[in-house]
Amino acid sequence: MSRRAVPLLLAALVNVRAACDNYGAQNGSACACPSGFGGSTCATAACGGDIFQGSQRALATQGNNISSCACESGWGGTGCNVCQAPNACAAAFSASGKAPSSGQSISSSQTGQNSTLTCNSAARVYASGQMSCQVLNPTLQAIFPDSSNLNIIRTLDPGLSPLPNTTSFGPSGTVFASLFYAGVEQFYCGADTCTQDLSDTNTNWECQNLKCTCIPGTTFCGGSATNLTQTINTLGGSLGIECGNSTVCAFKQATLQAVFGSNGLSLNGCIFGECLAQNLIDTNAGGNSTSDASSTGSAPLSGGVIGGLAAVGTLVLLAIAFFILGLIKQRSARRAHPDVAPGSRVAVEWSRVTYVVPGQAPRRTWYGARAKDAGDDDKVILDAVSGRVAPGQMMAVLGTSGAGKTTLIEILAGKEKSGTISGQVGFPSAGGTVPRIGFVPQQDVLPPMLTVYEALLFGARLRLPESVSDAEKRERVEGIMGTLGIDHLRDTRIGWGGDVGGGKARGISGGEMRRVSIGLELIASPDVLILDEPTSGLDSVSALRVAKVLHAIAHDPENPIPVIASIHQPSSQLYQIFDAILVMSHGRALYAGAGGFAPAEYFAREAAGVAPAYPQGYNVADYLLEVGSDPAPALFQLQANKASMSDGTRTPPEGERDPEKAGSTSTGKQETLGRGTTTTKSTTTRSAYATTFLTQLQYLSGREWKILRRDKTLFLTHVAISSILGVFCGGLYFQTGITIAGFQSRVGCLFFLGALIAFSSLSALYNVVEIRPLFLRERSSSYYSPTAWLLTRLLFDVLPLRIIPTIIVATITYWMAGLAHDPAHFFKFLFILVLYTLAMTLYNFLLGTLFHNGGIAILLSALSALYQMTFAGFFVHLNSIPPVLRWLQWLCPLKYCLEALAVNEVGSGLMIQDTLQGVPVNVSASLIMNLLFGFGSNNYYRDVLVLFAFIAGFGVGVIGIVWLRVRERR
Ligand SMILES: *[C@@H]1O[C@H](CO)[C@@H](O)[C@H](O)[C@H]1NC(C)=O
Ligand SMILES: *[C@@H]1O[C@H](CO)[C@@H](O)[C@H](O)[C@H]1NC(C)=O
Ligand SMILES: *[C@@H]1O[C@H](CO)[C@@H](O)[C@H](O)[C@H]1NC(C)=O
Repeated sequence: MSRRAVPLLLAALVNVRAACDNYGAQNGSACACPSGFGGSTCATAACGGDIFQGSQRALATQGNNISSCACESGWGGTGCNVCQAPNACAAAFSASGKAPSSGQSISSSQTGQNSTLTCNSAARVYASGQMSCQVLNPTLQAIFPDSSNLNIIRTLDPGLSPLPNTTSFGPSGTVFASLFYAGVEQFYCGADTCTQDLSDTNTNWECQNLKCTCIPGTTFCGGSATNLTQTINTLGGSLGIECGNSTVCAFKQATLQAVFGSNGLSLNGCIFGECLAQNLIDTNAGGNSTSDASSTGSAPLSGGVIGGLAAVGTLVLLAIAFFILGLIKQRSARRAHPDVAPGSRVAVEWSRVTYVVPGQAPRRTWYGARAKDAGDDDKVILDAVSGRVAPGQMMAVLGTSGAGKTTLIEILAGKEKSGTISGQVGFPSAGGTVPRIGFVPQQDVLPPMLTVYEALLFGARLRLPESVSDAEKRERVEGIMGTLGIDHLRDTRIGWGGDVGGGKARGISGGEMRRVSIGLELIASPDVLILDEPTSGLDSVSALRVAKVLHAIAHDPENPIPVIASIHQPSSQLYQIFDAILVMSHGRALYAGAGGFAPAEYFAREAAGVAPAYPQGYNVADYLLEVGSDPAPALFQLQANKASMSDGTRTPPEGERDPEKAGSTSTGKQETLGRGTTTTKSTTTRSAYATTFLTQLQYLSGREWKILRRDKTLFLTHVAISSILGVFCGGLYFQTGITIAGFQSRVGCLFFLGALIAFSSLSALYNVVEIRPLFLRERSSSYYSPTAWLLTRLLFDVLPLRIIPTIIVATITYWMAGLAHDPAHFFKFLFILVLYTLAMTLYNFLLGTLFHNGGIAILLSALSALYQMTFAGFFVHLNSIPPVLRWLQWLCPLKYCLEALAVNEVGSGLMIQDTLQGVPVNVSASLIMNLLFGFGSNNYYRDVLVLFAFIAGFGVGVIGIVWLRVRERR
């Protein structure tokens, strides 16, 4: 049947209300009233009689009260509008005198049907039906203790109804309802665009454009202490009337649902009655009487959900695409021709290398002027140091502490420095290739959970080109372990070294660690090996062994390379191993040349009287340190004047040369470190990663997985702690009731979980601080890209140690505390907690990477957890915070987490049933939630999106900071 879409009813409401009450239609000077009302303005309720009597029907007299009106036989409900007996309609119809007598045919212009009238007392409507119910709501009755009744006229097609004037009420598909309290009408409502959906047991009416009018002066609308005028007149939106096959119905509207729960106002003891032709029932039996019964299908997904699903789908697709791309790259890299060309025989030359650390940055005084002396106190660490090491030579850089040894070799190794470097460092070679420089820092930073073999193999796999087969890499590792004399430690775990690491199992010794560190550099077959104090902290035997290893590496007959090591205080024996010596003092070179007794002879020859004399048999190294400790200025002069050194060591031409021009000669690579370049100046010797991204990810993941499996206690501790916490929290809130106190416990339980996550994610921060040194070391040696590292952190730290424990705690607590008992709400609950865990973990990663000082990071993390708890809405009502501070709530992830959890819990239709001083209370929890915490009941998906935004923000922050800031700086 056609439904005129124009909401005529509303138009009628607006135009006619002034004249006709109860949404009666203006009909000339009179009003056409809905059934059950009469009088000149339709304001008076009918009293007794039947709905066919029209204007002849008896009306209520005193105070418009119909409570004492008696119904005729066959009629019932408040105001006697509902037919109850099959013959009541026919009798009333013929009595009204509008139709032929006995054997009458009720003809209708639309159907031409011909049948006897009957009374349909089921909930289903065919044309226009009346219903009358009691309103039994404890909360309502606490305020208005007398009986409340609701009369509803549901009209599908007025043309099919035998009632006169039904059409005047509006087009097809309308609802009119009026509420009587103690027999007096209080307010009435109308809605249009109604559809009727039939299921096996239910008759559901769905209408739009609800409008309600409170009748001024009645008990509900100003006549008592409780004035509902405002509330009732603002009811609007869609209206649902859902009736089961018994006598219970629900009157659903958004506001009513917020107050009385998801079922809205529940109606009890309903009776239904519809006068209509019998054959209308016969022809429609079984079928739906509405054209659009299809709307019973599942509600369409909201835009937010679709957007979210699309985003997740896109991410998954992107990840798959990247993976495939990575695979292709990996395969092509593996097939590439091996380009390891050993024996390029690189030398190291440096000339007039100067390094200046700026003094205190120019300060500004409070009035803006520059402080006078600012910037004048630049500190010269290195002053025009020159030297050369040939392949197969092993040079020791000697000097007292503070002489500039470490600075020099770091500059030679191309490490990033914060000060200003000038001068030249060159690597002349026959091949003209970019040399690989192996640098072994003073501190050994090694993965403690791996064995020596595994650590070296890890290095080989990531630092050798992908085209070298895995078997070759293993062979190489074995070979290097042989060279370094650490074969016997093959399967020993490295451990934490010495007494660091406390009670943990002791690993290998300091000297062995040093050799593993050297091995990690050798594995990449460097063209130059540079070491910072390789013998410091070792006993003389270990030191000697390390030095002998270095000597063997430098003098490798197949592939001799230059080795440069700064040495703190060598024994006589150790000193003699070195081929060449550079003596540093106060940032300048005192001697650069052959080793052995040559330096002593040099000083005796060139600087007799200026330098102290060399006592025969004395340790040359000690003597050189003595010379360098407090040299006369003439000694510096001596070295500066020296044009070239003996033993093939030559000082490159002075002054800065253009690297391009220099490169055209035999010099393979020459670098000018111009004055003014500062921190970011890194040598071009550093090449990109040796392997493709996927390979990096593969071996890093392999290592993390091995560590996770070995350190089982870590994972098991997390699981055990979370189980205990879950049981504790579940016990604390065990089976919370639905009283007001129970509601507080529910929200308290959710809050507890949120706070627990906020604080326990501190362990993520500690984790970052702990593994940071290894990452810095490996990053500076170009093992892998930071992105690969971050991804493995996500897979092997965030997933097993953050997300899984959260799921355990949350699941135990959820079911023990007896929160909403259905899978949908449970998974939505879990989803929010996982999102929140991710956000907090990333936040702590951010702090851990941002601050070098772990203490400050922990303080900030704890303070922010406290801030989040304050602004989560549990301790302070968010709307009562002064506006100056109120905006802080928008930056608080816990607020969104808690809001989503609460909305999810309350959205399960939670009703609070309690008794306050004898007054029964039965209200929807969402109303209380809103009043107590200021949470909006439709905010779940908004909160999900906001949490995603936090995750994305923190994630981008972590990636950016790791890329830009977490790098070695010297
Ligand atoms: C229908 O409207 C006419 C006037 O238009 C009125 O006389 C008659 O009483 C009305 N009938 C009912 C049932 O309201
Ligand atoms: C009306 O009903 C009578 C008997 O119930 C029948 O004889 C007559 O043909 C019907 N008229 C129409 C128009 O269907
Ligand atoms: C009831 O409330 C309405 C609107 O809030 C107001 O107009 C009316 O005057 C009130 N009635 C009484 C008796 O206070």
